[in-house]
Amino acid sequence: VGFCLHASLYQFPVSYEDAMSPVKFFLQDKILAKYRVDPSRICISGDSSGALLATKATQLVQNDPKFKNKIKAQALIYPALQIVDTLTPSYREYAHGPILPMDFAIKIGSLYLSKDKALFQAFRENQHMPHGSRHLFTLVNWSTLLPEKYRRNHIYTEPILGRHNFSYPLLLDSRISALLVNDSQLQSLPLTYILTCEHDILRDDGLVYVSRLRNAGVNISHDHIEDGVHGAISLMTIPFYLRVGIRIGEKYISWLDENL
Ligand SMILES: *[C@@H]1O[C@H](CO)[C@@H](O)[C@H](O)[C@H]1NC(C)=O
Ligand SMILES: *[C@@H]1O[C@H](CO)[C@@H](O)[C@H](O)[C@H]1NC(C)=O
Ligand SMILES: *[C@@H]1O[C@H](CO)[C@@H](O)[C@H](O)[C@H]1NC(C)=O
Ligand SMILES: *[C@@H]1O[C@H](CO)[C@@H](O)[C@H](O)[C@H]1NC(C)=O
Repeated sequence: VGFCLHASLYQFPVSYEDAMSPVKFFLQDKILAKYRVDPSRICISGDSSGALLATKATQLVQNDPKFKNKIKAQALIYPALQIVDTLTPSYREYAHGPILPMDFAIKIGSLYLSKDKALFQAFRENQHMPHGSRHLFTLVNWSTLLPEKYRRNHIYTEPILGRHNFSYPLLLDSRISALLVNDSQLQSLPLTYILTCEHDILRDDGLVYVSRLRNAGVNISHDHIEDGVHGAISLMTIPFYLRVGIRIGEKYISWLDENL
């Protein structure tokens, strides 16, 4: 929620920089030493749009030789990983689902880029991407990257490009759509935990990342929560008391216990 409000009040790159600066600061030898952190046991983690920031921090650190201290593990809880395609099976199935209905998610996502209401409308219709961006869809193509079970009976339709004359380079930017990095940038990623929830428009963002990481040879553990809803881990206290939130929390912590 913090990030949601933050993102809609402050456009890119404010939250991105707010997340990367402390990571860069913290990974310095002298800072790790000061806080007595074992540099071989650093994990980055986040949920929802916070998991996007965790994903980006990990991609940055692992691929940039300037960072001598690397990440041992990343743990991503129902991550938001792309704004390229708003017609994935999970967007279709849970557009009116609990906690994170599509219009709300898209509102936040579009405000992160611009206050332009036409951009919000275009996102809703999945007609926001510009001419010349078709190659990027290969990196998020649920028709090839989603296991059969989750494709269900959905028909993949080719994206409609350039319907609007938007000039938003951020639509193509992997700092906002983490799935847009190529396979060679995935190969350097560390031990990864991804948790996805069934009742979540962002389900397929996580599932597609699981496939991309597996294909790239990354050591990955994946938990899928059949009765899970987006945001459940933040809904364990008044007024929700979601038991599934507690279960998710326990899975996540036990993975960290065993792997970090
Ligand atoms: C997505 O994958 C399908 C194959 O499952 C292919 O027919 C289609 O051309 C791909 N689309 C894009 C934009 O990559
Ligand atoms: C987009 O721009 C082209 C030329 O710059 C123009 O012909 C076309 O009408 C514009 N389309 C829209 C939807 O504004
Ligand atoms: C992958 O992306 C990086 C960064 O954009 C680029 O330097 C590299 O050449 C790309 N690799 C391939 C195989 O396309
Ligand atoms: C993945 O990492 C775990 C350590 O957390 C290790 O036990 C396991 O052997 C690794 N698997 C592969 C295929 O490397």
